Amino acid sequence: MNRYAHITGWGMAVPQAVLTNADLERMVDTNDEWIVSRTGIKERHIAGKNESTATLAAKAGLRALEATELHPRDLDLIIVATASPEHLFPATACLVQDALGAVHAGAFDLSAACSGFIFGVHMAAQAIRTGAINNALVIGAETLSRLVNWKDRDTCILFGDGAGAFVLQARPSPGGVLSGLMRSDGSGGSLLTVPAGGSRYPASLDTVERNLHTIQMDGRKIFRFATRVMASATREVVAEAGLALDDIELFVPHQANLRIIEGAARDLKLPLDRFMINIERYGNTSSASIPIAVCEAVEQGRVRPGDHVVLVGFGAGLTWGALALEWVETKRPVPASRRRRLSLWTLLARLRSAVVWAWRRIEGLFWGTSSGG
Ligand code: ACO
Repeated sequence: MNRYAHITGWGMAVPQAVLTNADLERMVDTNDEWIVSRTGIKERHIAGKNESTATLAAKAGLRALEATELHPRDLDLIIVATASPEHLFPATACLVQDALGAVHAGAFDLSAACSGFIFGVHMAAQAIRTGAINNALVIGAETLSRLVNWKDRDTCILFGDGAGAFVLQARPSPGGVLSGLMRSDGSGGSLLTVPAGGSRYPASLDTVERNLHTIQMDGRKIFRFATRVMASATREVVAEAGLALDDIELFVPHQANLRIIEGAARDLKLPLDRFMINIERYGNTSSASIPIAVCEAVEQGRVRPGDHVVLVGFGAGLTWGALALEWVETKRPVPASRRRRLSLWTLLARLRSAVVWAWRRIEGLFWGTSSGG
């Protein structure tokens, strides 16, 4: 039997709090005119104190699942692409797996910065095509606001928080992920980095004083790299799918800078209205930017069954990648009863985790006392 990896569910989640350019004017030496003309960004969502990469990821993942006939326990694989994980370890994906009650899923994080979602969907689709798995949840989730130096005007205006997710399922009919491309160039690693907090520069007073736990970026060089790879990756992935640029109804680029998207459109000799753009409301949400843009494109009726769609992105690493998709299934209206059932399941899963955690603590105390005695 032929196996194809179809995208059957999608969902997004952003924090409620919004930080506008006017708010930033009160924090650093910048202004709305500069930010809009240089980046296209007007506002971004910022995580509140009870929100984190894992909570946003779980919310987006649950919304993506709601649109399918799947239950979390039907998932074989969860990939969370993130540059701002909950911890160094355990993987954010494992926390999401637990929160959703996806008891049969293997879960791991994927570190490819803003290209992470593309890499994750590509890997999950390959695993589906080989028959290794049937159902996967791929999430791009970030709280880069926690890694930004809020005194550095070069970077703090750019980033926002959020998450977006796809459910991929094996199907016998053609469609879904048609082709994919993943590329890296580690020689540019220092152009965009959070240097401290890992094994090279473990967190210390010195690293904190020197802000090495925050994002350091050479904006101009990243800009040049991005404009170079966006068009070439698009051309390559479209050709690999046996298509021409004219066959693509919508291009969904990583939302890092409006001028980078305009540059790619110019290179490809395509009008800008063939590109999905929502950077003005979210800023750069890194690995979450492409799935969030896809969710909004579908909602706005810009992606319909039978359409060909290209996702293309770049990021720290350096990394870049693209996917060509054939959009096959439409999101069915979710009956309220199904939404309630899934929410109840995740609530039960969380309750189970809390009980297991409490039981282990009690057990630990008990064994601690016994062995000590
Ligand atoms: N407000 C006002 N002025 C500013 C600001 C600001 N927020 N930031 C910089 N400036 C000033 C600079 O100091 C400079 O002043 P000078 O000419 O007196 O020296 C001037 O504006 C121009 O600065 P540039 O850095 O040349 O501005 P540029 O047009 O390159 O825009 C930007 C900077 C927006 C960062 C751009 O280079 C960019 O978007 N680069 C790509 C960044 C990116 O996409 N990063 C994410 C990658 S994806 C990932 O993995 C997370």
